[in-house]
Amino acid sequence: MTMLAPSILSADFANLQRDVELVLAAGADWLHVDVMDGHFVPNISIGVPVVKSLRKATGGFLDVHLMISQPERYLDAFAKAGADLLNIHVEAEGDMEAMLRHIRELGCKSALTIKPNTAPEAVFPYLPLCDMVLVMSVEPGFGGQKFMPSALPKLRALKAEILRQGLNCLLEIDGGINLQNAGEAASAGADILVAGSAVFGAGDVAAAVHSFKLL
Ligand code: DX5
Ligand code: ZN
Repeated sequence: MTMLAPSILSADFANLQRDVELVLAAGADWLHVDVMDGHFVPNISIGVPVVKSLRKATGGFLDVHLMISQPERYLDAFAKAGADLLNIHVEAEGDMEAMLRHIRELGCKSALTIKPNTAPEAVFPYLPLCDMVLVMSVEPGFGGQKFMPSALPKLRALKAEILRQGLNCLLEIDGGINLQNAGEAASAGADILVAGSAVFGAGDVAAAVHSFKLL
């Protein structure tokens, strides 16, 4: 079954514990945590202290999406804060192979992300070091943007390559996911759907989670 990872970027930061408890109780699988540095993306969101507080507040799986230019400087801190998965962009600075290995040494799941203008082939060499690949279906930086269908063939290409290499690597999609396009994202190969505004922006958050899980 396809997993759901609500993005807390669209939650109420003054009531984060309430919001994460609500989505997890409703059946959400993971919590997607968007970290932005105002440099890799034109927005600033949250960092290590929030992950640390979340870790104390919940046993939920923390899927940490690092939209930062120099991830190697912060991997240890995010792992220590309690991240379960550390996800770095292939477009970021640094030695991808070394960083992915280091993430696993820190005891976290490892992941690579591609932006909308990056070809899936960019991550093919690193797939054996990835527990997950994230395909962005919007330009990273902001919640509430429109889904880009160009992400779907990328998921299919990645799925085929993961099978070809005989790997156990999950696929995630992030950006503009809603109840209308979630089905096609799952059919294209997404194992995990990230949804921010479609979950926390819904009138009834728990009902939105239930609807995603019924797809
Ligand atoms: C965008 C973030 C997303 C964002 C998704 O840069 O990576 O995780 O929160 O929000 P929605 O689902 O509203 O597009
Ligand atoms: Zn994200």
